Amino acid sequence: MPSLRDATRGRVLFGGDYNPEQWPEEVWADDVRLMKEAGVNSVTIGVFSWAMIEPRPGAREFGWLDRLLDLVHAHGIGVVLATPTSSPPPWMGALHPETLPRTEDGSVVNYGSRQHFCPSSPVYRRYAASLTEDLAARYADHPALTVWHINNEYCTHCWCDETAAHFRRWLASRYGTLDALDAAWGTAFWSQRYGAWAEILPPRRAQYMRNPAQELDFKRFTSDALMECYTAERDIVARHTPHIPVTTNFMPLWSGQDAWAWAEQEDIVSVDVYPDPKDPRGGQYNAMLADMTRSQAGGPWMVMEQAAGPVNWRAVNHPKPAGLNRLWSLQSVARGADALCYFQWRQSRQGAEKFHSGMLSHAGESGRTFREVKRIGAELAVIGPEVSGTGVPAEVAVLHDWDAWWSSTQEGRPSSLVSYTELVQAWHGALWDAGIGMEFARPGSALSGYRMVLVPQLQLLGDAAVDDLVAYVRGGGTLVCGFFTGVVDVDDRIRPGGMDARLRELFGIRTVHEWWPLDAGAAVECDGFRGTLWSEELEPDGSAETVAAYRGGELDGLPSVLRKGGAWYLSTLPEPGALRGLLVRAAAAAGVRPVLEGLPAGVEAVRRGGLLFLLNHGRTPAVVELPGRHLDLLTGAEADGVVRLDRYGVAVLRDVSA
Ligand code: GAL
Ligand code: ZN
Repeated sequence: MPSLRDATRGRVLFGGDYNPEQWPEEVWADDVRLMKEAGVNSVTIGVFSWAMIEPRPGAREFGWLDRLLDLVHAHGIGVVLATPTSSPPPWMGALHPETLPRTEDGSVVNYGSRQHFCPSSPVYRRYAASLTEDLAARYADHPALTVWHINNEYCTHCWCDETAAHFRRWLASRYGTLDALDAAWGTAFWSQRYGAWAEILPPRRAQYMRNPAQELDFKRFTSDALMECYTAERDIVARHTPHIPVTTNFMPLWSGQDAWAWAEQEDIVSVDVYPDPKDPRGGQYNAMLADMTRSQAGGPWMVMEQAAGPVNWRAVNHPKPAGLNRLWSLQSVARGADALCYFQWRQSRQGAEKFHSGMLSHAGESGRTFREVKRIGAELAVIGPEVSGTGVPAEVAVLHDWDAWWSSTQEGRPSSLVSYTELVQAWHGALWDAGIGMEFARPGSALSGYRMVLVPQLQLLGDAAVDDLVAYVRGGGTLVCGFFTGVVDVDDRIRPGGMDARLRELFGIRTVHEWWPLDAGAAVECDGFRGTLWSEELEPDGSAETVAAYRGGELDGLPSVLRKGGAWYLSTLPEPGALRGLLVRAAAAAGVRPVLEGLPAGVEAVRRGGLLFLLNHGRTPAVVELPGRHLDLLTGAEADGVVRLDRYGVAVLRDVSA
């Protein structure tokens, strides 16, 4: 199986989406000159080129692409070649309106933007396959080709009739019989029982709340339907070039694709990362996406897209202050990225993204953005060979799961203020603040190698996953589990007692009598801290220690945090400092230490491949005391006991004490 190593060959890939079809060909020469100047060694081509390659149904215009690939190759730049199937040309929608997606209420999603294809449409799939076939055949032997990039950010959802038929086929293979489906969906409720497969629809717009199990299955189905589009194209390119790795770029923390399942179908796991430069927690968010993607990849991974400056799709789009692009870029590398690419190389002058930054911005080659890009390219050339292919050790796993996420978004739940992704971010953030390394894992994967496992929240847990958690603690592991976990089974059916019985026994809970969600901004006092978002009326069974109890209010005196041996249960979301305190305490009991003790606030330490990365997320300089002698690979300077970091500064250190 090909992998990212085949493309990196001991380097870190550096570059970005290159859309030269937006420019006259004279500009191309300037592009490659500046790419060389910036240390670019990889460009992603063709992502939105469908109409250029196939201007009329069945036509093929490869001449420009031939010239382009030859040009970048002549400059020693590799190509991540995209199948351009995410944005069909207007002729397809005009000629075949059934390829256009329909929304929940039946309106058509028109062409004129991008991603306007129905993943279930056989017509779309036929055109996409045929173009992919010809593209792969034409460039299979091109020496510039390093990676296949299938489509772009698969994300369309569709509720059309074709989709309905496809959904029914998917359901038939999942359930076999209508009776099984009716049982799984609980259709006895509200007279929803189905008498024929043909009656079943995707969850379209309805009068009131829709069946949550039907919605859950539709999310599973849509992820699978999009994956069929991906694997169809992947199989075509892999047939032509079995030695070239294949990827498709994920949107970060996007609910539409079960990234664990998709990652298994990829040779390279890649993701598009756009933390908000204005967000004081942007560095933590970037770290979380890195940890997540590295975990899905099971090793080095690829930043397929990031922004050198502002994006243009937030309400207010902030540029990156000097140094922030470099800081977050090197942070991704520290956390396992072996490829650092941007959207996009040259900022557009027309179209919907003309206000979105590029590596080469409207300010041009003397602009601050491009100067910082050149610096990053030069630094990657130095550290790339040291880190490429190496791992990032972690003793802590955070469990993360799409089924649980999907079930947590349904209508009619106890509190619509509870957000799965915010909980994951809060728990990851608490560990990040504590300087403890972590990775993500999927429920059901092997846990015994971790000293500690965290469950921010898994509302839905299958039986096997529950058994795994119990076995993990019995085997000596430390489990810290957040509220509203193990509440439903794989069909979204409630487990009696407020939580799966095996989990209640694990945590020392007899019954969860009621969930007491909190209002926005409200807090509940606990011993030594305040809880937010949620609280629970728990009846302990006497076998667990009460680490903290609720004080005041309706739950006065009842446990808010329980600990039974290695199993901890948090029935509220402690405020950030308190959550960190609890996790640090559990970690210490599990023998987990931070990467480096005594770091100043805002400084992150990560070890990768024998190197120590120090990253200052603070807006003022920082001083880190570090025993021993260290060589900073970025400056060539030696640090003797003290490392000084500028605002947004980074040091990449090798211990040379010996
Ligand atoms: C990504 C997309 C790119 C570009 C970018 C802008 O979602 O893949 O094509 O639109 O966002 O931030
Ligand atoms: Zn459709």
